[in-house]
Amino acid sequence: MHKIADDLKTKTGWELIKTAYHASDAIGDGTRFLIGNGYLGYRGTFAENTKEDYVACVVTDTWDNADGKWEELVTVPNALWTTLSVDGTPFSVKTHHGAFEKTLDLKGALNHSSVSHTFNHGATVSVKESKFASYALKHVVAMRYEVATDQAVDIAITTGIDSDVWSMNGNHFAKSDYFIHEGDYGVNITTTTAKDTIIVLEKTVWPEDAKVDTKAPKRKAHLHITPDKPCVFEKFMIVVTSNDVTHPLDVAKDLYRKIYGFEALKKAHSAAWDALWTMHDIEIEGNLADQLGVRFNLYHALIATPVHKALPIGARGLSCQAYQGAAWWDGEIYNMPMYLFTNPLIAKNLLIFRHKTLDGARAKAKRLGYEGAFYPWVSGKRGEELCPDFFFKDVLTGRDIRNHFNVWQIHVSMDIAYAVMQYYHATQDHAFMEDYGIEMLLEIARFTASRVVWIPHRNRYEIHQVLGPDVYHENIDNNAFTNWMARYALKVAIDALETFSSETIKRVKKTIQLRDDEITLWHDIIDKLMIPSPNKAGVIEQFDHYFDLETVLPASKLKERLIDEGEYYGWPNGIAVYTQCIKQADVIQLMVLFRNQFTEATHQANIDYYEPRTLHFSSLSPSTNAIGAARANRMALSETLFRHSLNIDLLNTKKSVTGGTFIGGSHTAANGATWQMVMFGFLGLTMEGDGLVFHPRLPQSWTRVKTTMYFRDQTIIVTADKATLYLKRRAMSMAPISVSVLNRNYTLHDTLKISIEKS
Ligand code: BGC
Repeated sequence: MHKIADDLKTKTGWELIKTAYHASDAIGDGTRFLIGNGYLGYRGTFAENTKEDYVACVVTDTWDNADGKWEELVTVPNALWTTLSVDGTPFSVKTHHGAFEKTLDLKGALNHSSVSHTFNHGATVSVKESKFASYALKHVVAMRYEVATDQAVDIAITTGIDSDVWSMNGNHFAKSDYFIHEGDYGVNITTTTAKDTIIVLEKTVWPEDAKVDTKAPKRKAHLHITPDKPCVFEKFMIVVTSNDVTHPLDVAKDLYRKIYGFEALKKAHSAAWDALWTMHDIEIEGNLADQLGVRFNLYHALIATPVHKALPIGARGLSCQAYQGAAWWDGEIYNMPMYLFTNPLIAKNLLIFRHKTLDGARAKAKRLGYEGAFYPWVSGKRGEELCPDFFFKDVLTGRDIRNHFNVWQIHVSMDIAYAVMQYYHATQDHAFMEDYGIEMLLEIARFTASRVVWIPHRNRYEIHQVLGPDVYHENIDNNAFTNWMARYALKVAIDALETFSSETIKRVKKTIQLRDDEITLWHDIIDKLMIPSPNKAGVIEQFDHYFDLETVLPASKLKERLIDEGEYYGWPNGIAVYTQCIKQADVIQLMVLFRNQFTEATHQANIDYYEPRTLHFSSLSPSTNAIGAARANRMALSETLFRHSLNIDLLNTKKSVTGGTFIGGSHTAANGATWQMVMFGFLGLTMEGDGLVFHPRLPQSWTRVKTTMYFRDQTIIVTADKATLYLKRRAMSMAPISVSVLNRNYTLHDTLKISIEKS
């Protein structure tokens, strides 16, 4: 057993084991042990738990607005709810005296728990729960509930559908009616504003000798168990909504018929996960904690990703309702890159969601006086802006703070243009570009052109009143990240106009009524947009006059100025605003996206400057600086930041509740960025031209790393140790791939073995 932290262990790097129960860990454990399949997420709670224990099953595409302010995904009734009593005395994990173990099996995507209790009359009874959210049948969550004893006892199992759910912002059930189906129960819900139908149906499989009272939705079964005859009870929860199918009740009943048992369902689920791991696993030798951390994060990234439909990956995935299950820039910049190289269809789905929501982005631009597509900072299903004007309170005055994420954080549009090009670069999917990509690029360029300002006395265009990725500094001008991305967005739009067939371009131009004088303007902006370049020391200024702000080093010292622990650090009066302390990577974010366009010396100058000024209060930040540090050959720093990022959900290092608001749940950007830290950071992967570039620099303790990646319809197995990079292609019949390793060029036919030892 390898110790990860107090009470947390792993055996092989494929499982996270918790060895003690603490009631105070309910939020963190519900997230850590979460199960999911991209359609729904079911928190890693116990069958007996209720809303006080943060039980939740969050379902994709169920956005509803119950309180008039927050549109969020719905938490559906819990059909796995089950309790136990032994000889009339309740059994509960909360009061148990005896053994405890809870495991997240990453390979099989299952969670298990085993809890024992010794009763006053001497009998020791244990309850073993196993649950999984089927990857093969996305609408089904399965549970096996086993009760064993060392003495003969009478037990009563109560089970049902718990509709008293934990919902963050109001009650989403305008109507909820129970119905009976083949002796089991279901609940038919109509949501508040969306008026969606949600069906939750249970299926119970009782031991033959169970005497079940079938009269109430919450039913009791009586059994007599002995040491050689434990009780095995199986329960399935079926969830179908009117956004998935036209007749959800019929589909739910059909699934009810198809479910035979836990083991049969598990087989298909395991097979699906074997296939997932084949494309996503990263094997690490030499550091078991890193191995576990990487797999744990990849698992959480995968279960948060919808694959059944073009939907976004929420910032907290399907682990809770926080962050509204909405689309953020996190999706394109933190989650999508892995899928570009593992399963580009998923990347495509994420971008198709952005295409589906183009009208919302156009409407937002128009409303604010701009042209083209200004994507929402927090996007709902139709591209509507879900980010409210007011969401933080000044704890010192009690007044609401007006933040401007929803109107000034314009880089989200350009980030989408970047993602479109990354997808196209990785896949050469012309059809995607013709059907979706070009239109997005042109509308984003159009927005960009309408957002810049011409400054005659400086003879240049500038971009004023924005927020860069570092959200503590609002209302700033010429943010390096935003300006650079803006120029990039214009360039790729022009490239698209010049590269794709004139027929396609004519069609798209006609659809969006793009005029030639707009294109002339784009050329002019590309030539004359202010792009902050490195100063004499090689450092790029984050925005105009950033260098004039007070230096506080290290940034963590800023905390001493707080009057109240709960104060917001940012705009307009927070303690970070007039200092160089930043919430998250900003210039480094830019350098990581365009990592091969900066020299190692520039990477060094910037990471050395910005890392001590970065608070890393966003879960996005450590991973970006970890990659930046690897590019700068600051390997010790890179490793520290890598582990910082890995541990966010693994060790539950972030606050779960702030000012009474739940912000816990899984940090999907950090989960997704794990792949990037290994591949873009430690292996130094980038795409260049038609080929791939590697610059391997492994962490000290790693003796070997191995993964599989996908590029332009080809599968490549990448293995590196301290001395060698080994590449092996699966599809030998296809055109060879050009590869650059440590600035030397090679051609990958079937295999390449390249020495990377430091000379
Ligand atoms: C960060 C944003 C991020 C959002 C959702 C915020 O705390 O500042 O960059 O998009 O969280 O993860």
